[in-house]
Amino acid sequence: MLDLVRVGIRGHGAGVRQLAYRLLRTVPPAVPDQEAFRVALHAAMVTAAAGTELRFTGGTIPTESDTAIELADVDPLPDGDGLILDEGSAAELAEILAEWSRRDDLHRAGVGLSRTLLLSGPPGVGKTMTARWLAQSLSLPLVTLDLSSVVSSYLGSSGRNIKAVLDYAKSGPCVLLLDEFDAIAKRRDDDADIGELKRIVNVVLVELDRWPDTSLLVAATNHPQLLDPAVARRFDRSIDLPLPGKAERSRILAYAAAGAPTAAGVVSESIADLTAELTQGFSSSDVVRMWSLVLRRAVLRGAMAEDVLLEEIARIGTGNTNVRDKVIAALHNRLGLSNRQIAEVVGISHPTVGTALKRAGIDKAR
Ligand SMILES: Nc1ncnc2c1ncn2[C@@H]1O[C@H](COP(=O)(O)OP(=O)(O)O)[C@@H](O)[C@H]1O
Ligand SMILES: [Mg+2]
Repeated sequence: MLDLVRVGIRGHGAGVRQLAYRLLRTVPPAVPDQEAFRVALHAAMVTAAAGTELRFTGGTIPTESDTAIELADVDPLPDGDGLILDEGSAAELAEILAEWSRRDDLHRAGVGLSRTLLLSGPPGVGKTMTARWLAQSLSLPLVTLDLSSVVSSYLGSSGRNIKAVLDYAKSGPCVLLLDEFDAIAKRRDDDADIGELKRIVNVVLVELDRWPDTSLLVAATNHPQLLDPAVARRFDRSIDLPLPGKAERSRILAYAAAGAPTAAGVVSESIADLTAELTQGFSSSDVVRMWSLVLRRAVLRGAMAEDVLLEEIARIGTGNTNVRDKVIAALHNRLGLSNRQIAEVVGISHPTVGTALKRAGIDKAR
């Protein structure tokens, strides 16, 4: 197992294969059904489609010439589980997958499939995650080039470095993510830099036009308005990911909570609903981070995550009296807080809490 992790983590396909052969020859004695194990192992080895082979071995990732730092990050087994998007965006992604699985039909009809995709949207809505999800769904490795780091740290040789990664990504089937794509569009004060950036844009434009349909090129940007419209138009498809709506926020929370290993992490529908309501304007990433924070606190305090979550969302505040009343009622009913404590958590006066509880049909004078 350790050997497998060691070679696998470097994406060293030949090493994995060698280990698999060794296992075929000598099945570990602890395996109960030796023959079934051999058959399954063999099947696993031969079903790897050409495209899924771990072909990106350490030595071939292009490096920055002076420092030998690798220019791209290669993930042979990308994981996009739990991606939750609005219906429209999800449908477009499903369509891309359908195109890729029916490429022959498309070719016969005289059209190509989507080879290049521009993902835009505010930070934390899942652009990078979508690239991981696409690679996972297509059973392809994910090659990531962060353009902001390439452009800022090696501007002089950026054009050459970017070209090297693009060539590398074209050398076999993969999903190539050009992250922070707007980095090549940002204006700089230095004239020499502007010249270099123009050259880089031209390199990318040419590549977009003749990108092969064996790899999917995904560009992601938080600032589509910085892009030259000529660049944006060159993509086969463009998807604008919005901030998550209430339904998506609720699903993201439910997915995260379902992953909590203990019952103390369970969140009831009513609290999930309140959370979704109060987190308007949150990005998907904000929701996930809030949940992690809540879970961490719950573990440290030995409390129920749901109770910690309730306190957390009570602090967010809202102009919607109806929602605030629900929060106040929940703090009263579930956590048994006094009016004074509720007032402190929510940040309102304590008579206001009394009025809210009365509106909710809860009479403290009882
Ligand atoms: N649509 C989404 N569905 C589920 N989780 C998400 C989503 N978007 C973001 N996240 C969470 O936030 C993290 C950061 O998101 P990321 O993909 O890097 O956003 P972006 O690239 O748009 O800035 C992800 O790893 C994931 O945990
Ligand atoms: Mg990102």
